[in-house]
Amino acid sequence: MENKRSEWSSNFGFIIASAGSAIGLGNIWKFPYMAGNNGGGAFVFVYLTLVMVVGFALILSEVALGRYTKQSALGAYSKINKHFKFIGYLNVLAAFFVLCTYNVLGSFIIGYVMEYLTSATFITTFTPEVFYDELVSSQSVILWQISFIFLTSIIVINGISGGIEKVSKICMPLLIVMFITIMVKCLSLPGSEKGVEFFLKPDFSKINLNLILDALGQVFFSLSLGMGVNITFGSYLNKESNIFKNSFLIPFIDTIVALIAGLTILPAVFAFGLNPEKGSSLIFVTLPTVFENMAFGNIFGFLFFLLIFFATITSSVAIFEVCTSSFMDKFNISRKLSVFIIALISLVVTLPAILSFSTLGHIEIFSYTIFEFFEILPTKYLLPLGGLLLCLVVGHTWGIRNVSIEVFGKRNLCFEIILGSLIKLIIPIGLIIVFVKQFV
Ligand code: TRP
Repeated sequence: MENKRSEWSSNFGFIIASAGSAIGLGNIWKFPYMAGNNGGGAFVFVYLTLVMVVGFALILSEVALGRYTKQSALGAYSKINKHFKFIGYLNVLAAFFVLCTYNVLGSFIIGYVMEYLTSATFITTFTPEVFYDELVSSQSVILWQISFIFLTSIIVINGISGGIEKVSKICMPLLIVMFITIMVKCLSLPGSEKGVEFFLKPDFSKINLNLILDALGQVFFSLSLGMGVNITFGSYLNKESNIFKNSFLIPFIDTIVALIAGLTILPAVFAFGLNPEKGSSLIFVTLPTVFENMAFGNIFGFLFFLLIFFATITSSVAIFEVCTSSFMDKFNISRKLSVFIIALISLVVTLPAILSFSTLGHIEIFSYTIFEFFEILPTKYLLPLGGLLLCLVVGHTWGIRNVSIEVFGKRNLCFEIILGSLIKLIIPIGLIIVFVKQFV
């Protein structure tokens, strides 16, 4: 039984683990294709603006709330007011669905890593479309799913500084080095400059409400907002660390990686004359096609899927931690038991989502396949709702002045005015529009 709350071994440990949580499939799988679908540069421009404003304010609020209450999402909200317990439950529910989508995509990614690894020392070629179709409907994908959940569980069992922090410290630097290497290669392909232009040159006429809402949803997903992760991670933070600085650094690192992803994937796709609007199959089908056509492509393909694997596992560990620590706090059980229970439940719940790519493909929930439903429910509904409720609690119950005291150790009027107008007015209005838009 853990009575004394664990802590990060250092502030750097917190930053790297938070970056590990934030940098994930959102950056590598979603961001480039969302930019692709929304006209490139215009989307990037709106995204960057929203990260600076909304991302910063909400991360700061979540981390401060976590450190102040010393509780994970469930306990934190009820500590502010016991009627707010349901917000914690909503956060954990959202985290659980994201965990299941991560389990599914994580198992596909292991499938790709294995394929590149075993394809006769990187020489044999494969047809990505055929491979993808075979993989998603094969039995081995279930084995990869079990392996992925097992690996995540082992890391989470090892606790905060011994598990999550350590793994992030190894994976994150490797990820960045590998990513920059692949980016340089992709940028050197003839014809790649069209992709760079598409990605970086904003055509302001393309900005419309839909684009803004997509970008806002992506900011939430990419920074893991509205799901209790930053609350949970903040609860392991000691009083000396500088929340203000951290709340800049985490979105900054996350955004750099999203930009690297865009500057890798889109130029490569343009260089080979492929379509960047391919949606979710961009990294599973379009990109491997690029690697197939490139010198030493199999090695780059292998590195690329390995780095996505690192990004995925560090995020899935963070989401798993939200569920685990909530269970520990709620039922007063040990970390091991809590991990075991979550692993089992997530295994059972993920199974139909994986099978929805094959045998259960005909089952529809509100006209989505099971996997799509698992992906859309948190991103489109639970995260914005979580964000809105966070704003209400922080703005109107806990109070902006208490955020200031938690962050600076004293009141800071200028900070309070800026944060107050964001948390009490601007962000809630944006989120209400997002919310209403989902239903009309
Ligand atoms: N931010 C992650 C990404 O960009 C995804 C994510 C959403 C997440 N919510 C989370 C990760 C909670 C960890 C914890 O892919």
